[in-house]
Amino acid sequence: MCGIVGAVAQRDVQGILLEGLHRLEYRGYDSAGMAILTPNGTVQRQREVGKVSALADLIEASPIKGHSGIAHTRWATHGRPSVLNAHPHMSGDRLAVVHNGIIENFQPLREELANEGYDFTSETDTEVVAHLIERCYRQTGDFVAAVKKALTQIHGAYALAVMHADEPGRLVVTREGSPLVIGVGIGENFIASDQLALLSVTDRFIFLEEGDVAEITQDEIRIWDRDDTLVERPVSRYEHGVDAVDKGEYRHFMLKEIHEQPRVIKATLEGRLTDSRVLEQALGTDAGALLENVRHVQIVACGTSYHAGMVARYWIEELAGIPCSVEVASEYRYRKHVVQPDTLFLTISQSGETADTLAALRMAKKDGFLAALAICNVPGSSLVRESDLVVMTQAGPEIGVASTKAFTTQLIALMLFTVALARHHGLPAELEADIVRELRMLPGKVQDVLSLDGSIETMARHFVEKSHSLFLGRGSLYPVAMEGALKLKEISYIHAEAYPAGELKHGPLALVDSEMPVITVAPNNELLDKLKSNLQEVRARGGELFVFTDQHASLHEEEGVHVMSLPEVHNLLAPILYTVPLQLLSYHVAVLKGTDVDQPRNLAKSVTVE
Ligand code: G6P
Repeated sequence: MCGIVGAVAQRDVQGILLEGLHRLEYRGYDSAGMAILTPNGTVQRQREVGKVSALADLIEASPIKGHSGIAHTRWATHGRPSVLNAHPHMSGDRLAVVHNGIIENFQPLREELANEGYDFTSETDTEVVAHLIERCYRQTGDFVAAVKKALTQIHGAYALAVMHADEPGRLVVTREGSPLVIGVGIGENFIASDQLALLSVTDRFIFLEEGDVAEITQDEIRIWDRDDTLVERPVSRYEHGVDAVDKGEYRHFMLKEIHEQPRVIKATLEGRLTDSRVLEQALGTDAGALLENVRHVQIVACGTSYHAGMVARYWIEELAGIPCSVEVASEYRYRKHVVQPDTLFLTISQSGETADTLAALRMAKKDGFLAALAICNVPGSSLVRESDLVVMTQAGPEIGVASTKAFTTQLIALMLFTVALARHHGLPAELEADIVRELRMLPGKVQDVLSLDGSIETMARHFVEKSHSLFLGRGSLYPVAMEGALKLKEISYIHAEAYPAGELKHGPLALVDSEMPVITVAPNNELLDKLKSNLQEVRARGGELFVFTDQHASLHEEEGVHVMSLPEVHNLLAPILYTVPLQLLSYHVAVLKGTDVDQPRNLAKSVTVE
């Protein structure tokens, strides 16, 4: 949720830290701060409420010189957003800490340390860590040993970076349940909660494992594992272009990411298809034997990724004839569940670091599942490392908090998986060939939908004054309606609910009047006639309809009915294509309303705490 960045260099690090914070701001943005060890041996700290730009203004007014430092952008968990609660937190004026995650036992530790005379100035759990490490430092006189000792006393999920005025040119970092990477430079080294933060200074990264503690200096990186053994961790190169984190010609990251979809869908298909088949090896070399044995699929995910899972359920049951259950991770992990024999556990996550999804995976590994497959967008993420099989989406970094290209590429990866699975369970070769042909045509069709941008912007004007909206879909388009509703509420703050259209008369119809816009995704499929009668029910109550459909659906513009025609698409792939206009609609409504599109209030890109 929050973002951490740190550097030890031969040059001043203030600019590096600030740039890193800007790049991390999508993760959390209610306050920010940095601490730098100055040449005269004091730790200087600056903190500010609001966005990173507010901290930047402060620092521009009074720059801090120094060759090592740590910085943080916060998404509040313990304690409201305020300067006092902003990181870094300090013990006295010598030790500074930045922290992502939650320290569960902070309350008793806080009481204990307060009784010993440690002074608390914030409401955060992090301040406890600062004092605890300082106490251990006084006891051991050794910086790394002090951090290791403090870790034995805290429980929870965390990534931590610590600096001390008595240990110039050194940072000590650790991770447990929250991501942390080391950026490897030449004569300088860096740390961050996400490699994106460091792309302007390096493209070489070491991913820490759970429980690792590392000491970083200008020239050296030493890592100890959970058992306190000095270990070597591999250095990997970042493969996406650096420009992937620039907005380029676009006004917002979200718009850029929506427009990248034809390219990233193509990239996600690349190397995974022959003329008429899906290459099973895309799932891993041993995937075949495993898929043969799958008798049930359990999908677990959060947010937008959960909606991708809901679409996949329709596909898996239809094409493979295998029962599939889908559940949000925060529910799944806290209930007793029955695991059917030969069940594949499938997680979906853009970041690969979502706390609930990861926890569900870890639980599943003890629960006797056949294997764990992850669909993920971030190589090296915890989910990827801890799963047996992985299908990477090739969306590239997604910065806008509202997920767009990650979702459509997840659907592509899920379709590839479904076809590979279904082939072992009776999928006719002709149907597979059809799907492959349609998949290849999809980027072009998405491009055609993007060219409707102007008309969708015009449509968006109808929503600016509205407070509520209803999204309807049937079959595999129902989760697309859910995703459309999520997008609208996330970034325009308009209350949006999605219903399977057949449920309309069981309740939501009571809400329909001229003030309730009803958005429908209605491709020309076997459910269209049923959907049309649902739409009549809306019109009869004076509800204004916004219908996304195709030329052959014979739905026409009339008073109170706005129709947008999309290219014809294979029924199975309609959920992917029909998502795109809903993304554009939410985007334009949010822009017209003047909300912060890329960083909507109260939300964070990556939810690494429960
Ligand atoms: C947050 C993000 C969503 C995302 C969800 C799951 O809520 O704002 O866009 O869908 O987390 O994240 P994941 O990285 O696991 O897909």
